[in-house]
Amino acid sequence: MPAKRLFIAINFSDNEKDVIANCIESIKGFGVRGNFTRVNNLHLTLVFIGETERENDIIEAMDAISARPFELSFDALGKFAHSRGDIYWLGVKKCPELFALQASLSKALSDKGFRLEDRPYKPHITLAREVIAKNPRIVPPKLTVKVNSFELMESARKDGILEYIPVYSKKL
Ligand code: 2AM
Repeated sequence: MPAKRLFIAINFSDNEKDVIANCIESIKGFGVRGNFTRVNNLHLTLVFIGETERENDIIEAMDAISARPFELSFDALGKFAHSRGDIYWLGVKKCPELFALQASLSKALSDKGFRLEDRPYKPHITLAREVIAKNPRIVPPKLTVKVNSFELMESARKDGILEYIPVYSKKL
């Protein structure tokens, strides 16, 4: 199997993405410039894996997870400061089921020999990168998302455009 750049994520419906995308529009109102996430690409990463040929092993790890569906809601805008411009993201409200899912996936993958980042999990939806702006303030979306599945995603560039393509879905 050829190497792919892979990560595992929670995805949103088109309606949910539209609501989240309103936050991007609000940020644009404050930003001088920035690299804004395309609406289709909005997602919540559970585990970033990186370049690998071991897609089938990841799918096995996903299949071994047993968890119930749960709900997510959103928090304030957050920022990772960078010299090239800041990264703005939408935070996720405290959700023990999300952390439990992330922990069991990380364990299942580590047990299979995948070397994962050991930084504490900080659930976020990246809205914009390389933003030069003066403290944008937004109202977090009043949205509750029911999580019924999570997906293995490929990160690829098509004609220079970054795309996230679901390659496998595991139901909760
Ligand atoms: P980010 O949005 O904060 O960059 C695909 O790149 C997804 O995996 C993104 O949600 C990205 O988070 C996340 N990710 C986590 N660690 C990463 C890494 N080391 N390199 C690229 N993406 C990473």
